[in-house]
Amino acid sequence: MSLRPFILGLAASFGLAWLLVVIVPFIMMRNLGPITLTKETDGAAGIFYPKRSGRIVNGAKVYAENGCYLCHTQVARPTYAGNDMYRADLAGLARDPERGDTRRETNAYDFEGETFAQIGLTRMGPDLANVARRFEAAVAAKGGGGDPAAMFYAHLYDPRRNPETRKSTCPSYRFLFTRREIKGQPSNEALPFGGDATSELLPSPDAKALVSYLLAMKKDQPVPAALNFAPPEPKAAAR
Ligand code: HEC
Repeated sequence: MSLRPFILGLAASFGLAWLLVVIVPFIMMRNLGPITLTKETDGAAGIFYPKRSGRIVNGAKVYAENGCYLCHTQVARPTYAGNDMYRADLAGLARDPERGDTRRETNAYDFEGETFAQIGLTRMGPDLANVARRFEAAVAAKGGGGDPAAMFYAHLYDPRRNPETRKSTCPSYRFLFTRREIKGQPSNEALPFGGDATSELLPSPDAKALVSYLLAMKKDQPVPAALNFAPPEPKAAAR
């Protein structure tokens, strides 16, 4: 083969992939407009605007800086790209105490407020799209004693501290915590472990932003019919 067709073939095979995987999705998703709700299908008029609360912008920055996206994804994949619905509590809770089955696919609106959608590179660790829901459910299962934020702090400080994840390969992010001498009252933000009579462990501002971001990982709010790729099946009687 001569050089010319080789170079052209190379350009075509990489260029086409680049066009379809990078450029086309970018053009389609860079400026997502609000979705108009319709009365018949959504039961309400107006526009759909996903709400997220927490330190999303700062937290996402700490998440990126520490390479969490290398091992954790944040997407319940659309079914055509590999079903995720069957995985326990990944796409939402199958048995949410208030709303029933809240599982759904992730969509571009779930990343509202973030500069980059950190969909992740690999699933070395569990998907985090709904990790806050899972942690809340774990706290509720223990009879409500506890706090999801405290679970996140403990995990970030030492993922192997919990006997259930003794062999966890999630790295420890100890450097996001500082040890401080107790002067007067101990801080109410101190970790429940690692302290002694004279010092205590405190989360740094970065750790607080990251945990606030993790606590906002509830990609299960109801979406308008226009976005719902897997609408619930009609009940037998309604058919
Ligand atoms: C080297 C890969 C790797 C990196 C990098 C990584 N993790 Fe993990 N993570 C894992 C693995 C594996 C698990 C599963 C074991 C466990 O639960 O500890 C896990 C578990 C978790 C869990 C518990 C999830 C659940 O559903 O129980 C959280 C939360 C978490 N990681 C947060 C983070 C955050 C935040 C970062 C970045 C600061 C991060 N991880 C970076 C591999 C990684």
